[in-house]
Amino acid sequence: MTPPRDDAVTSRALDRLGALEGAAFLARLDLVQGDLVEALTAVYADRVDVSSFAADLVGDALDAAVARPLPLRVLDRRREVDPAWFLRQDMVGYVCYADRFAGDLQGVAKRVDYLGELGVGYLHLMPLLRPREGENDGGYAVQDYDAVDPRLGTMTDLEQLTGLLHDRDIALCVDLVLNHTAREHEWARKAAAGDPAYRDFYWFFRDRTEPDAYERTLPEVFPDMAPGSFTYLPPGEADPGDEWVWTTFHEFQWDLNWTNPRVFRSMLGVLLTLANHGVDIVRLDAAPFLWKRLGTDCQNQPEAHRILQALRALVRLAMPGVALKAEAIVGPDQLVPYLGAHERFRPECDLAYDNQLMVMLWSAVASRDVRLSAHALARRPRPPAQATWVTYIRNHDDIGWAVADEDAWAVGLDPFRHRQFLASYFSGRHPGSFAEGADFQANPATGDARTSGSAASLLGLEDALERGDAGAASVALTRLETLYAVAYSFGGIPLVYMGDEVAMRSDPDWAAVPSHADDNRWLHRPAMDWAAADRRADPSTTEGRVFSALQRLAAARASTEALRSDGTTTVLHPRSPHVLAYVRTHPRAAPVLGLACFSDTEALVEHEVLEQAGIHTPVLLHSTTGRLDLRDGMLWLPPWGFAWVTTP
Ligand code: GLC
Repeated sequence: MTPPRDDAVTSRALDRLGALEGAAFLARLDLVQGDLVEALTAVYADRVDVSSFAADLVGDALDAAVARPLPLRVLDRRREVDPAWFLRQDMVGYVCYADRFAGDLQGVAKRVDYLGELGVGYLHLMPLLRPREGENDGGYAVQDYDAVDPRLGTMTDLEQLTGLLHDRDIALCVDLVLNHTAREHEWARKAAAGDPAYRDFYWFFRDRTEPDAYERTLPEVFPDMAPGSFTYLPPGEADPGDEWVWTTFHEFQWDLNWTNPRVFRSMLGVLLTLANHGVDIVRLDAAPFLWKRLGTDCQNQPEAHRILQALRALVRLAMPGVALKAEAIVGPDQLVPYLGAHERFRPECDLAYDNQLMVMLWSAVASRDVRLSAHALARRPRPPAQATWVTYIRNHDDIGWAVADEDAWAVGLDPFRHRQFLASYFSGRHPGSFAEGADFQANPATGDARTSGSAASLLGLEDALERGDAGAASVALTRLETLYAVAYSFGGIPLVYMGDEVAMRSDPDWAAVPSHADDNRWLHRPAMDWAAADRRADPSTTEGRVFSALQRLAAARASTEALRSDGTTTVLHPRSPHVLAYVRTHPRAAPVLGLACFSDTEALVEHEVLEQAGIHTPVLLHSTTGRLDLRDGMLWLPPWGFAWVTTP
C-alpha cells in the first residue's frame, strides 16, 4: 500500500520542478515511497522517527532533481520510456583505469573512437575520486568524494567526458566506495579529533573486547597484507581512550558505521552529487560489508540489503535514468538478492557481477570438465527480469575460488581440494599447467589462496611465448576467445577488461611502484600497450586476431535479440563432460544455443541437445571456425572452440 503523500511535498515538487517534471517526480514518489519507508523502518526505526527521516531524504532527492543538468534530465526521460536501456543486446562494456588506459580523463576522451571500434556502450572507469596519498588500494581509499583525483583531472573534465560519451551513446560507470573512507577523509579526521557529530560515523573501540568477539567469526579479506579486521590507533591518532577502529580491508580504510542514519544521509548526498556530474551507473563497492552483526561473518546481512533498497528508491526518485551496480563477490546463494530476488522481489541493484560464472569458467578451463560448472549454474535462481548481471572473465581483482561445497559434493568433488587445485593450477604449480599466475593472499591457517594474473597469462599465452611454441600460443588465444564468447552470450552485459582485447599478458614490472609492491593484483593492472593495440587492424598479429574476434562477438550479439539481457538462460547437460551448453530465449526471438568446448581435443554434441534448445534447423550465428560442423546429426566443436547456433 502506498502511504499517503504529504501536501507540502506535492506543492514543493510542483513549484521547483514545474508542472510536467513535478508530476513525474510525484508519480515516482508514489511508486517508491512504500519501499523506502519499509527499508528505512527495518534499519533505522530504533534511531530516528522514520517518517520525518524519509521526508528529509525525499527532500534531498528533490534538491538533486532540481539541480540535475538538462542533458541528464533528457537522458532520464529517454530511460523512463525505455527502462530496459541497459539490457539491450548491443550493450558491451569496457573496464579500465583512466590513467593506465590513457593517462587521464582528457586522454580517455581521445580514445573514445577506440571504444567505438569494440562496440562499447558502457565504460567503467576504475576509482577516480580523490584518494589518499601513497598506498590507496587502487583508489578504493577515498579522501574526498567531491573531487576527482587531481592526477586524472577535475570535475569539469569528468563532466566533459560524460557529455562526449553520451553523444556516442556510451554510459559511464564509476565506483562509489560505500563501506569505508580513507582515514584522511574529513569525516574521519573530525571523528578522530573527538567531534561528537562524527564519532558515530565509524566504529571505535576502547579495548580488544568487542574486536575479539567479532573476530571469532570474521573472515579476513587480506590475511596476508592486512591481517585482522581492526586497526590499533596509537596514542595521539584518535580521541583519547579509543584504541581500535574497524578496518575490514586495509588499516587506512576505516569502515563507516551504517547504523548511524547520518552516514546514510551523507552517503546518499555523495551518490546523488556524483550522478549529477553525469555518471550513469554507480558501482557500489564492497556492498555486502555495510552491516555488522556479532556472531556472523558481517557480510550479506539483511540490513545491508535494506540500505541498498532505500538508496535504490531515492536514486530512482531523483534521477530515474541512473542504474546501480552491486559489487558483491559472495557465494552463489547470496548473490541474486543483490538484484532484488528475496523471498519476494524488492527493487535493489540493477546490475551485479556474475562472479559465479567467472569462477566456473576458470574451473572448467583447469579441469577440462564442465560438470561442476553446469551443475552450479543450472541450480541458481534466475535474476529478476528488470535486473541483470555483468558477465566477465577477468577484472582488476584477484580470482577467489568461490566454489560452493554442496555444488562440489554434488558432482563428486571434494570442495576444499578442488579449490586448492584451482589455485595451484593457475599459479602454474600444478604439473602440466599452462597458466602463469600467482597466489594472492595465501592463508596458511585455512589453506585458501586466491589468484592474480591477466587472462592471457592464465590461459597459457605467456608460457607458450616463453617456450616459443606458436601452436600453443594460438590455442591460448582460442581459449581467450571462447571464454569471451561465453561472457558475450550467457546473459548480462559482457565486460571487456582493459588489455584483454589485445591479449595483454601480466605486467612483469608490477612491483616497481613502491605502493604496489605488497599487492600482486597489480600483475593484471598493466598500463595499456598502445603499440600493441596499434597492430589491431593487422589480422596476422595476435592483437589483430583477438581484437577482431571481440568485434565479431559484439556484432553477432548486437544482431541477436535472444541475447538481450532480459532473456532467459537455461543450462543444458550434453553427454560430453567437456561441453558447456546453454540456451538463451526471449519472447521476441528465436532461441540461441551457446556451446563452449573445454578440452584439448575436439568434442561432439549430440542432436538431442539441439532439440532441447528448440533448434530444429540449425543455423550458425557465430563460431570459432566460422562454420557449422554437423556430422551425422552431431555438432562438432574444435578443441577449446565455441559455437552459437540458432534456428530460422
Ligand atoms: C572491492 C574492490 C577491491 C578493493 C575492495 C576494498 O572489492 O574491487 O579492489 O580492494 O573493494 O575497497
